[in-house]
Amino acid sequence: MKGMSVNIIELAPANENLLEAAARILLEAFAPSGSREWQTVKACRHEVTQCARPEYLCLGALIGNELAGWIGFRPAYGEYTWELHPLAVAPDREGMGIGRALVLEGERRLVDSGAGGVVLGSDDESGRTSLAGSDLAGPDLFDHIRSIRNIRRHPYEFYQKLGYRIVGVIPDANGPGKPDILMWKRLVR
Ligand SMILES: CC(C)(COP(=O)(O)OP(=O)(O)OC[C@H]1O[C@@H](n2cnc3c(N)ncnc32)[C@H](O)[C@@H]1OP(=O)(O)O)[C@@H](O)C(=O)NCCC(=O)NCCS
Repeated sequence: MKGMSVNIIELAPANENLLEAAARILLEAFAPSGSREWQTVKACRHEVTQCARPEYLCLGALIGNELAGWIGFRPAYGEYTWELHPLAVAPDREGMGIGRALVLEGERRLVDSGAGGVVLGSDDESGRTSLAGSDLAGPDLFDHIRSIRNIRRHPYEFYQKLGYRIVGVIPDANGPGKPDILMWKRLVR
């Protein structure tokens, strides 16, 4: 991974310092997206605590002793399809392959436990794709999806590079013209 040694570990409830670092990364990583969900450290700590529950899968990427990013997965349709939620890389560690490494390692572990797919929702709350502000409630919904354009580095393209497909949208998920983009990937052994 671009000359760096990155160690991917499971984040457990006992890793208090790492969980605190994960909350900070969540806050910083989602600030530019206009996320309504993770605007305070308190909300981020709550999310991290949920993700680190033993029945979920929560992984962190370490560079030395420093947490550079983390990812959560939870069962969504029984134990067959899991939801990826959330994924956050520290802003000063972006573009180094850490996001890709976290997703792929999570998928590898899920396949080993018998899972067959991963689903995720990637919000567009600040006009980062051509879907924002479009009339997605009308008859042209699937045309809009087919001709999606990335305007300001929305992560849907990151996921496409890893094999995820757009399988739908929730048109006004976050308010009028602020959709959630739904993506899915089949896991193969
Ligand atoms: C999106 C995010 C997880 C990507 O992590 P990263 O470590 O920077 O990504 P990687 O370095 O592993 O990139 C893998 C590939 O995806 C591409 N990519 C990464 N982010 C991208 C984006 N926002 N838009 C388009 N392509 C992107 C990279 O250029 C790279 O492409 P390449 O293989 O052709 O070189 C990270 O930028 C982040 O945490 N963003 C803020 C939070 C967020 O949006 N999380 C996901 C919400 S669903």
